[in-house]
Amino acid sequence: MNVYRIAEEDGEKILIYDNEKIKVLIDESSLKKRIKELGSMITSDYKDIVPVLVSVLRGSFIFLADICREIRIPVVFDFMAVSSYGNSKVSSGIVRITKDLEFSIEGREVLIIEDIIDSGRTLNYLVKNLKARNPRNIEICALLDKNVPRKTKNSVKYKGFDIPNKFVVGYGLDYAEKYRNIPFIGYIENEQYL
Ligand code: PRP
Repeated sequence: MNVYRIAEEDGEKILIYDNEKIKVLIDESSLKKRIKELGSMITSDYKDIVPVLVSVLRGSFIFLADICREIRIPVVFDFMAVSSYGNSKVSSGIVRITKDLEFSIEGREVLIIEDIIDSGRTLNYLVKNLKARNPRNIEICALLDKNVPRKTKNSVKYKGFDIPNKFVVGYGLDYAEKYRNIPFIGYIENEQYL
């Protein structure tokens, strides 16, 4: 059967699909709690402004859907799609815009909504690219910040979680397009087989 199977191993919930085992790194209730906190911070910081939430497709679609409902002010949504991973586990290093914004951000307060900062290349590229369009301000909201050495660091005003250097999936994040619809953040146990 082509379904995800939930099992228990050493008292911990795991998800099994094909021969891959996905362990829980951040469970659903921790995600919900932290996203509520981030939403409240954003609400109070932007209470007199209508920010443009620039969501980076596709990985951030679930995070965006959840955090926007914790932000209690009017916002404008716009979407960009960039890709540097394709179907691979390792970033190609070349960031490509596959879908650009619909609206002008000139003079606007922009809040980038990202699911994960890994090598940091996507965000660096994005911040540079968006700055050139003369917004009033750009801030970053990222659910996950992976612990990897980076040359350039962007300051992330709204951060969900620092995570270890593991290949994570679920809650929008994929491995070769699989696992985006797992409701928690997990990691593939036998990463060396990927
Ligand atoms: C993933 C993720 C981030 C980016 C982070 O996107 O959604 O946008 O990688 O990695 P980096 O910090 O090393 O640049 P991906 O290119 O895999 O596309 P997707 O969102 O469609 O999965």
